[in-house]
Amino acid sequence: MAKINTQPPRGTRDFFPEDLRLRAWLFDIWREVAQRFGFEEVDAPIVEHAELYMRKAGEEIVNQLYHFELHDRHLALRSEFTPSLARMVMARQGALRWPIRWFSIPQCWRYERMTRGRRREHYQWNMDVWGEPGVAAEAELIAAAFAAMDAMGLAAGDVRMRVNSRALLEETLRERFLGDHPEAFEPLCVVIDKLDKIGADAVVDQLADPAGAIRLAKPDALDVVALLGVGSIEEARKSAPSGSSALADLERLFTLLEGYDVADRVVFDASVVRGLAYYTGIVFEAFDTGGKLRAVCGGGRYDRLLESLGGKPVPAVGFGFGDAVVGELLGEKALLPELPRKLDAVVFPFGDTERAEAQALASNLRLQGKAVELVLGHVKPKRALADADRAGAQRIYLIGPDELSRGVARVRELRSGEERDEPLPARKD
Ligand code: HAM
Repeated sequence: MAKINTQPPRGTRDFFPEDLRLRAWLFDIWREVAQRFGFEEVDAPIVEHAELYMRKAGEEIVNQLYHFELHDRHLALRSEFTPSLARMVMARQGALRWPIRWFSIPQCWRYERMTRGRRREHYQWNMDVWGEPGVAAEAELIAAAFAAMDAMGLAAGDVRMRVNSRALLEETLRERFLGDHPEAFEPLCVVIDKLDKIGADAVVDQLADPAGAIRLAKPDALDVVALLGVGSIEEARKSAPSGSSALADLERLFTLLEGYDVADRVVFDASVVRGLAYYTGIVFEAFDTGGKLRAVCGGGRYDRLLESLGGKPVPAVGFGFGDAVVGELLGEKALLPELPRKLDAVVFPFGDTERAEAQALASNLRLQGKAVELVLGHVKPKRALADADRAGAQRIYLIGPDELSRGVARVRELRSGEERDEPLPARKD
């Protein structure tokens, strides 16, 4: 018989108890911050119709889809949450109180090439606002992402948010390079998103590829890449079309961020365009200032996604914040907490004669909200004590023949070694 591979599939994780404690710690921070900002939690199926993800702009994420045919249906594991969210908003479009503020913590699947912090499954905290066209929504979301980083213990200087506006880039490019084929803008963003990964020369080649979707003249492609080097709003102002509303939005966003006291953690960066085709306005990505990892979180405005799925247009903006990248960063900064198992007590009957009393005592303690392990097998008292200690229990309740005859349990505090008797619960019979 062929040997079964008992490893988890490459790029996926098992969560042992200590891993799950850390994951729960992170999720608790996300939930708590989301609730503090007035967001409600939602979820959706992990399997969706594959066509929900099949966009045509050449995005990496489409090629990384885990998909399969089943009973003539083409299905896919979700690679991100935003399309499901759009589907959910569409289902209730007539009955929602706008703007809606929804968050979720989905597990997402992408068949990625693995690098540090880049996995084939990850959990992603999503925060999205639907129905608000103004950048006050972007400001609120960026403030929430920083609030979560603060709650994790990261210092203000550990992460920078890079902000740009696709709308500004589009205005500029339309005027100068894309006048005769505006539909090339989405694939162009997908290509320039790869700048860090593949370098300027390869980006220029793809922008100027005569067989590609963008087909810029080579000098224009070089000019586009040069535009991406703009690193301040002041500089961006010089190349923006006059009266640009996208530039006004960006400037307003920076002013609003001052109100949350996070403006010094946010920088303008014209090279941030994001690799997903649906973004239409402000886009942002947070990176560790050490520059070692992929984006900790990323998002932006996607005002046309609902329309592209057949719904009525609704402005929308949001971000995704992955567990894997921030986990690496927290580990590097020694900020991952020590999270011991929470076990209040072990109840140990010496034999079957004491088991009924032990069960009643364990039940009583559990009703008081205590975490209690009841020893299930036959073990020697010495072994039971050592086990309880190893499990990290606070105390052990010992019930032997002597205790039973006196109607008590012997309680031993495992840290101090202090001992006392406590009465057993009254028998029901
Ligand atoms: P994204 O940039 O593809 O955006 O992912 C958001 C975050 O999820 C990334 O910044 C990263 O932290 C994490 N992430 C993504 N892929 C991986 C991976 N393979 N391994 C580990 N972590 C990963 C989106 O998915 C958008 N749907 C976010 C969004 C919500 N935009 C608007 N609303």
